[in-house]
Amino acid sequence: MQFVIADTYESVSAQAAQELISFVNESPYCVLGLATGSTPLGMYSKLVEAYHAGEVSFENVTTFNLDEYWGIDPANSQSYRHYMDEHFFNLVNIDKNRTSLPQSQGVLPQVACNSYDELIFEAGGIDFQLLGLGNNGHIGFNEPAPNFPVGTHLVDLAPSTIQANSRLFSCADEVPRQAITMGIGTIMHARKVVVLVSGAGKAEIVVKAFEGPVVPEVPASILQLHPHVEVILDRAAASQLSLA
Ligand code: GLP
Repeated sequence: MQFVIADTYESVSAQAAQELISFVNESPYCVLGLATGSTPLGMYSKLVEAYHAGEVSFENVTTFNLDEYWGIDPANSQSYRHYMDEHFFNLVNIDKNRTSLPQSQGVLPQVACNSYDELIFEAGGIDFQLLGLGNNGHIGFNEPAPNFPVGTHLVDLAPSTIQANSRLFSCADEVPRQAITMGIGTIMHARKVVVLVSGAGKAEIVVKAFEGPVVPEVPASILQLHPHVEVILDRAAASQLSLA
């Protein structure tokens, strides 16, 4: 596990964008695993800038997002499909037919999960997986649990996740209670994983996840076993790490 400690959120975003740009330039037909949440917003905006500056093209990439709320209309402004369109897909030359998020309605959850796993498998798996870190150690929407789920699955969101995400809805009652998320197995099969973390509020979970025991109660801790993980974090998020 490699740690890159940047001074600020701005430099975390710049470093992450640079890594992703280099990766896409070296492998234009790569499969990207993408994340939502507040943390990657700065990186997406730098990717858009780089695209407009002619430094990168997303024309041939394929993308799979980690997760989507279950039951939400993709046209709803709180859906992760909407987030991706608004902050990235609509602003670059990506082929939207090659961008996927888990299906969020209209089928049985198990069908949505199985077909997402099949799509990822047919694409050859994820080459570059971007991750944020939930306050409770979740990655994607893999919440603390008695085991590490392998494939895409339906999850009941933890009360703390509903609370944390309620800032983006008009009230906590509007936050969907369930989501479909890529499993830990799929994330662990990605050839390279880059985790972005920012802010003092994440300092404690950063230590549990990356210096604590590998346990499913802290889902991100499994990343300690992945051979190519880079954690890019600002000084505030890194402040309790023993190496910082
Ligand atoms: C959300 C998402 C995750 C994200 C995490 C942290 O609920 N499902 O993919 O990484 O929580 O979000 P943030 O970056 O806003 O702290």
